[in-house]
Amino acid sequence: MLNNNHIEIIKSTIPLLESAGPALTQHFYQRMFSHNPELKDIFNMTHQKTGRQSVALFEAVAAYAKNIENLAALTTAVERIAHKHTSFNIKAEHYQIVGHHLIETLRELAPDAFTKEVEEAWTEAYLFLAQIFIDREEELYQLREKATGGWRGTRRFVVTDKKPESELVMSFVLTPEDGGKVLDYEVGQYLGVQVTPSKGENVEIRQYSLSQAPNGENYRISVKKEGNNSDQLGLVSHYLHDEVEVGAVIEILPPAGDFFYTEVNKPVVLISAGVGCTPMQAMLQQLAKDGKSDPVTYLHACENEQQHSFIDEVDTIVSAKGWNHRVWYREPLSAEGINNSSTGLMDLAQIKDALPTNVGHFYTCGPVIFMDHVVKQLESMGVERERIHYEVFGPHANL
Ligand code: HEM
Repeated sequence: MLNNNHIEIIKSTIPLLESAGPALTQHFYQRMFSHNPELKDIFNMTHQKTGRQSVALFEAVAAYAKNIENLAALTTAVERIAHKHTSFNIKAEHYQIVGHHLIETLRELAPDAFTKEVEEAWTEAYLFLAQIFIDREEELYQLREKATGGWRGTRRFVVTDKKPESELVMSFVLTPEDGGKVLDYEVGQYLGVQVTPSKGENVEIRQYSLSQAPNGENYRISVKKEGNNSDQLGLVSHYLHDEVEVGAVIEILPPAGDFFYTEVNKPVVLISAGVGCTPMQAMLQQLAKDGKSDPVTYLHACENEQQHSFIDEVDTIVSAKGWNHRVWYREPLSAEGINNSSTGLMDLAQIKDALPTNVGHFYTCGPVIFMDHVVKQLESMGVERERIHYEVFGPHANL
């Protein structure tokens, strides 16, 4: 059990953790992957190369240390991470491995500061945090396993349709090979996709937003071709685009994610950039299906007409419903653009009067820089944080 003495010791080691920074992270991952190479099939090895996730785990531990007396401050983050972990099928035994390498890393890099008391305090603290995750993750696994169409771990799905949505985005419809139903999900959630790319060395798991409303029969994901496939950037998306055809079988983990639409009987604004429009398709379809009577606005920003995904699909829904719709092309290819399009970055001031800034709920998804840009604009128009719901694509920078 964690006691006050442990808490004091943990707090006193925060400066040590912070000063060691990237060296600690690097040592930890090198240690873990050399002793437990099987974990290379779980972690995104491209993120390891770019150092993205490496930072996330250690920042999470440091944030935990800082908030050790106020764990309620971490609830939202714990929920987000637990959902993410379940989409990798992380199990209780994995926590022991990670915990062991964390402790040994601290011992190896700070032998003088790492006294018996420090070791005991950190071990207790880690076990305490790990148990929070293990319990919540088990709850999520069981919920998904018991629901209609549900399952646990991976399940084989056949690609039953493959369709380009724009220059860089390809949709895949996935139907269970066993002919059974599929688990319903909240619109905004993602799937874990497990593949072994022909050009890779490991099993790879990635998350892709579900891009259609639930129908009980199949799933649709829409994948952006990332990078240029050099140095493994875009390894999985290139494999899916170039090599996975209709009829192929891929392993799927059940839907997960804490970013989703919640009905509130208020106007809704969906705001996305680039491939961030994928969860918005699921939301838009669901709102149409539900016969949402409050106004709905669909706003999207992308590079140009060729990179504009789901043009017809969105158009069909918003025209039938008479909903608001606007697009921003950063650098349009033609002078005319399409109906309701503007040039440049998304500028909400242009449509301020049409936005439900007093009561509406705003859902936004895209790269971090875009989200910052949007959230700042919304806040300057008086929209409170509680009415702004967002999902960052890619790992979060901190807990
Ligand atoms: C108490 C222990 C742990 C903490 C504090 C922690 C924290 C985190 C954080 C903050 C993220 C990023 C979440 C996001 O991007 O939204 C993450 C992702 C992840 N975690 Fe953990 N984690 C822990 C244990 C584990 C364990 C035991 C495993 C499996 C061996 C694991 C595997 C992963 C993987 C594979 C990802 C996604 C990485 C990626 O996309 O590159 N984590 N974790």
